[in-house]
Amino acid sequence: MTDKYAVIGHPVGHSFSPEIHGAFARATAQDLDYGRILAPLDGFEAAVLKFRDEGGSGLNVTLPFKHEARNLSEAQGTALDANAVNTLKFEGGRILGYNTDGIGLVRDLKDNLRCMLEDKSVLVMGAGGATYGIVEPLLRERARLTIVNRTPDKARQLVAHFQGMKEIAVRAMAWRSYDRLENDRFDIVINATSAGLTDDMPPLPAGIFAGGALAYDMVYGKSTPFLKFAAAREARTADGLGMLVEQAAESFYIWRGVRPDTKPVIARLRAEGGGRRAEGGGQKE
Ligand code: ATR
Repeated sequence: MTDKYAVIGHPVGHSFSPEIHGAFARATAQDLDYGRILAPLDGFEAAVLKFRDEGGSGLNVTLPFKHEARNLSEAQGTALDANAVNTLKFEGGRILGYNTDGIGLVRDLKDNLRCMLEDKSVLVMGAGGATYGIVEPLLRERARLTIVNRTPDKARQLVAHFQGMKEIAVRAMAWRSYDRLENDRFDIVINATSAGLTDDMPPLPAGIFAGGALAYDMVYGKSTPFLKFAAAREARTADGLGMLVEQAAESFYIWRGVRPDTKPVIARLRAEGGGRRAEGGGQKE
């Protein structure tokens, strides 16, 4: 019998997850069907339960429901501290919740971009849901993290939240406001804000990049002002397309127990416009 999966969000029409999971299923000969569910803003839980009761096996969750998904599910692994879930698996009567965003980012950095993380100084811009999702996997790689946010108090709160974790090296984590970055240089600068979607640029000082630094924007499908700023300062640049495919691969593995090859899927999406649905588009899952 064909197993059913879908991505659920609001909006959801822009999501590339059906294409990505369709490609994974063909490449690994898995018998599954993957669709899209547009849930009303006040109807996430009902839509999830309906899909499950009609025989669905699992869901990817995108904006703005990742936090609700955390509350609806039994959070596993990094989803516990991320306070956000992007993958649901229906198992018996249970709803298991996972967060594969951070693992997807780490795989993209290490495997695709050949950018090692151990002992690297990493600046993450933003202190919203996207940042909560990636902090623990970055710390597990022994990166030294600094979080900067437009509203500095949210960065402070985020660091305090993760300092409550016992088993990983949270000592390697600090927060700043943008106006206190003047004397710092970073090996990797990650834009986890939504600024790129509106063509805005976080107020970074010009000298933020160490020699050979990588600038990474979690937005995909457009060259953001941050990536242009970085390229003009001779940093290497990468958008979030690789992370998108890698987080999907981890979800696929959770559901099917099979790890698909991501490189051909990333290459195909790049060849088809880099995850661009419309002119000037750009998105963040
Ligand atoms: P997400 O789930 O994508 O993280 P979010 O929780 O709404 O979305 O958080 C958006 C993040 O982008 C926040 O850290 C926000 O900063 P504030 O906390 O100060 O609002 C950040 N952000 C959005 N637009 C920005 C901009 N133009 N410059 C800098 N940071 C921006």
